[in-house]
Amino acid sequence: MITIRQARAGDEIGMQECNLTNLPENYQMKYYLYHFATWPALSYVAENEEGRVVGYVLAKMNDDNDAKPPLDGHITSLSVLRSYRRLGLAERLMNQAQRAMVELYGSKKVSLHVRVSNKAAFSLYKNTLKFDVDRTEEKYYADGEDAYEMKKVLDGLYATEMDSLDF
Ligand SMILES: CC(C)(COP(=O)(O)OP(=O)(O)OC[C@H]1O[C@@H](n2cnc3c(N)ncnc32)[C@H](O)[C@@H]1OP(=O)(O)O)[C@@H](O)C(=O)NCCC(=O)NCCS
Repeated sequence: MITIRQARAGDEIGMQECNLTNLPENYQMKYYLYHFATWPALSYVAENEEGRVVGYVLAKMNDDNDAKPPLDGHITSLSVLRSYRRLGLAERLMNQAQRAMVELYGSKKVSLHVRVSNKAAFSLYKNTLKFDVDRTEEKYYADGEDAYEMKKVLDGLYATEMDSLDF
């Protein structure tokens, strides 16, 4: 059984392992801890029966200086280990983060960036989670690749009971 639960201090090691194997955008441990401390209910992990982190979503609120409530949410990073893919984990992790943005911060919108070459993630965001491309940011990534900035309106979502977290 795989359980999805809120990320907490101590998960940063498993999350970083999951990140390093899958993505070129890597973070120091303190960046994960900064997310947990600042937005404690927005990041989630998928944990297997041995307690290993096999997927995560790291999320935040866009609280730049001039931002006024309701703040928009932002997905910082999402990753699922290769042998745990196509089980619906990323979809569930994303839905938990989005729900928390709405329920705790009254968010009306969520944004993210994705590499233009990342077909799997683009399909997840566009077809499954119903994000739209807002614009293309040229040379957004350190290696010069462009990013799609994608956004989703959250208004009216998540008025129902919590999804089951176990499956
Ligand atoms: C993108 C990623 C997070 C998807 O994780 P996942 O747990 O396998 O995704 P899910 O099982 O929730 O997929 C839900 C839907 O997304 C779409 N999808 C997911 N992977 C896909 C792929 N390889 N090709 C096409 N569509 C895909 C499908 O519509 C899928 O539904 P289906 O399985 O019923 O067809 C995973 O492939 C990953 O970790 N990739 C490397 C890291 C990464 O790219 N992160 C995103 C950075 S922006």
